[in-house]
Amino acid sequence: MSGPELASRAARLTPFRYQGDKPAVLWSFTGGFPDPAHFPVRELSDCLAAAAGEDPELLQYGSSADESLRYGERSLRQALLTRHGDDLPPGACLANVMLTQGGIGAIELAFRSFVDPGDAVVVEAPTWGVALTLARQLRADVHAVPAGPAGLDVDALEAKLDALRAAGRPAKIVYTIPTFQTPTGTVMPAANRRRLAALAARHDAIVVEDGTYAALRYDGLAQPSVQSFDTEGRVLRVGSFSKTVAPALRTGWVTGDRALLSVLASARSDLGVSQWAARALALFLESGQYDAHLSRMLAAYRRKRDVLDAALRRECAGLAEWSVPDGGYFFWLRLREHVDAGKAKRLARERGIAARPGEQFFGTPGDGGQLLRIAFSQVAEERIPGGIAALGEALRSGAAGAAAPERGTDTARPEGGR
Ligand SMILES: Cc1ncc(COP(=O)(O)O)c(C=O)c1O
Repeated sequence: MSGPELASRAARLTPFRYQGDKPAVLWSFTGGFPDPAHFPVRELSDCLAAAAGEDPELLQYGSSADESLRYGERSLRQALLTRHGDDLPPGACLANVMLTQGGIGAIELAFRSFVDPGDAVVVEAPTWGVALTLARQLRADVHAVPAGPAGLDVDALEAKLDALRAAGRPAKIVYTIPTFQTPTGTVMPAANRRRLAALAARHDAIVVEDGTYAALRYDGLAQPSVQSFDTEGRVLRVGSFSKTVAPALRTGWVTGDRALLSVLASARSDLGVSQWAARALALFLESGQYDAHLSRMLAAYRRKRDVLDAALRRECAGLAEWSVPDGGYFFWLRLREHVDAGKAKRLARERGIAARPGEQFFGTPGDGGQLLRIAFSQVAEERIPGGIAALGEALRSGAAGAAAPERGTDTARPEGGR
């Protein structure tokens, strides 16, 4: 491979910098990591043992005879169909459900199936950085549409889709996280979901609806999925057990029109998902243990969210603005203009706070500088206040010289609360 070719390949990848000498992390508010205290270790071990005892063939590859190689273990697909089948057209069957290696496995398969180099892919701004990286690796022509307090701005989406079509480069995929959007935590209202499905149909685009966090609802009413408004078989809905059970299972899924899933099956080259893990998960679901586990976990995450909100109001009022998310793992902080965000983020790191810089959620350089994503999932509840106090100190130092408010002087809920 020639030097210029190597350089152009490297340019498509997110640059990696080895940082073995970073300050120690004392509070990990950074990734979308579940709380390890909630991993259902005993129940899962029992289910794994029961699955292997039931049928040792589950430790084998899947088979093409019953499509478990490409679509995944059947009993888990059946359990998912029972739970999510109402979003699919009447008559939906196992051919409408595919297991994948985590939610990212489904997103990658969808992108690889429908995007050729140069094809237009529309994403939200901000959005999950991994999806952005994936689109870039596939050499997609990535277009961003703003995501505000009501999620993806569907007026802006319509304008974007029209413009792309007028330019002779119609969008192939719209990637959206309508429920507990990453990083903003917002939820798209039902009416906008309906419009999104209709727009996709009109523009012959496929919607990849990322529902990875959708089951993690602490407040508010669940909204119907975008897929439930899909009359043309255009919406692929992605789910995952990573945030609700354990990421190490690497088990996610995608539901959708049979013809779309058969394209994904053709593009598939990963030799499937662990049949053993899938059957164990099916047993976990069928026995009712999953629902009990989920409701315990939701109660614990709700408490953590509230502890984090209270700490932010004490420590960061006047320095940052945020909304309290109804679900998911994240707070999205907008640092006020008088806070020197670069300095504050550096000081926060030096104090041992790991949080995700806003820049990582935008495809365009220069965006997201005043923003910071804080995950409340992984840090133990009793340690959250200490971490946020340290963050508040960093922000106050970042605002030094600009008449920063005293700690806890502004107790109004910013940005209209939840
Ligand atoms: C928005 C979003 N989608 C999908 C995923 C995929 O996770 P997994 O592949 O572990 O299911 C993640 C993980 O962080 C995520 O944040």
